[in-house]
Amino acid sequence: MLASTLARRTAFEVSGKALRAVSTWSAVPAGPPDPILGVTEAFKADKDSRKINLGVGAYRDEHGKPYVLTSVKKAEQILTASNPDKEYLPITGLPEFTKAAAKLAYGSESVPLQEGSIAVTQSISGTGALRIGGAFLARHYPHSKVIYLPVPSWGNHTPIFRDSGLEVRGYRYFDKKTVGLDFEGLKADLKAAPEQSIILLHACAHNPTGVDPTPEQWAQISDIVKEKKLFPFFDMAYQGFASGSTTRDAFAVRHFVSQGHQVALAQSFAKNMGLYGERVGAFSLTTSDAAERARVDSQLKIVIRPMYSNPPLHGARIASTILGNQELYAEWEGEVKAMADRIIGMREKLYNTLTSDLKTPGEWGHIKSQIGMFSFTGLSPPQTKALAEKAHVYMTADGRISMAGLNSGNIEYFAQSVDAAVRGNL
Ligand SMILES: Cc1ncc(COP(=O)(O)O)c(C=O)c1O
Repeated sequence: MLASTLARRTAFEVSGKALRAVSTWSAVPAGPPDPILGVTEAFKADKDSRKINLGVGAYRDEHGKPYVLTSVKKAEQILTASNPDKEYLPITGLPEFTKAAAKLAYGSESVPLQEGSIAVTQSISGTGALRIGGAFLARHYPHSKVIYLPVPSWGNHTPIFRDSGLEVRGYRYFDKKTVGLDFEGLKADLKAAPEQSIILLHACAHNPTGVDPTPEQWAQISDIVKEKKLFPFFDMAYQGFASGSTTRDAFAVRHFVSQGHQVALAQSFAKNMGLYGERVGAFSLTTSDAAERARVDSQLKIVIRPMYSNPPLHGARIASTILGNQELYAEWEGEVKAMADRIIGMREKLYNTLTSDLKTPGEWGHIKSQIGMFSFTGLSPPQTKALAEKAHVYMTADGRISMAGLNSGNIEYFAQSVDAAVRGNL
């Protein structure tokens, strides 16, 4: 018998008269559902008209609807009118976009930007930027294969860096007792990390806690990173979303660069331009000079080419049209500020309703002091479970809420539900 026939027969089994295939995938175990997308599934299945979804990290307008920015619509009109082709982009993406993205992050005054020593590539949004960065560091960072993440961090960080070939460890970040930054723990853990380890820093609007270091604390972190020769990798998924100012939110990155650190940076335009599904992002590294940048660039291409060959076109064209047009840029900045301000307004309103109107037991100052899209409420897993089952209010089990899911139509009901959950009255 031919070897190929024998091999095929071993893949089949006689059952009655028919031959039935034994599936190649029969031993693949079911994986756990994504903790955040699982919240959305439960929300969708709920038929109650009062239901609220605070799980998903996407901006919603005052009516709870997804929001397409006017500057984005105008950029698309400009693009359509120019009748563009659909050719492949270069491996590192649209050059006008990557230049503009680097300028937005590092600032036009940035020395490495002026020297032409920033290696930058377009990426599949922020996730793709982190993934390229992880793979590049795993291959080329000569000193360590260990990356330290804040505890807690965005849930996707650990699998991204593990799949990139790095070992993931944690440094203290959040203090459950104060619902604030554990700055002493953070400093102690960075000082105790092996020299030259990689350290992941959320540039602004830390996800999931909404707790950011102050500028003075950032300066101290920068000093420790220098002293311990750590390598800082910034994740900036929310530039502009935290304070309403793209400049203020870039403080940490720019401070580190001004202090002489070489940094890695992942940028996303999902939140600040509302381009979630367009997947627009950038990954960059500061290098010592233009010649080194060219070498790093060539290796970024070698990392990217077998991953997805080259990035998508449309979203990068939208972003570069906005960033490269003075009028649209100004309009976009106004829209980023309006989104941030609406969220800040919801924080104030929630704080006031819980403390002044309902006199809800507990300390709620963190609702106001936290920043960005998310708030760590301090609600316990049993309380979040009761809120979903009894009040139709959905959030992640750790008590994180997306402030963007609140609006003047649902905030009273939400506050009353939290009040009832805290008092054990649900
Ligand atoms: C901290 C952080 N980093 C990165 C991302 C990446 O998002 P995206 O890939 O949609 O740009 C997110 C999205 O929620 C995030 O919260």
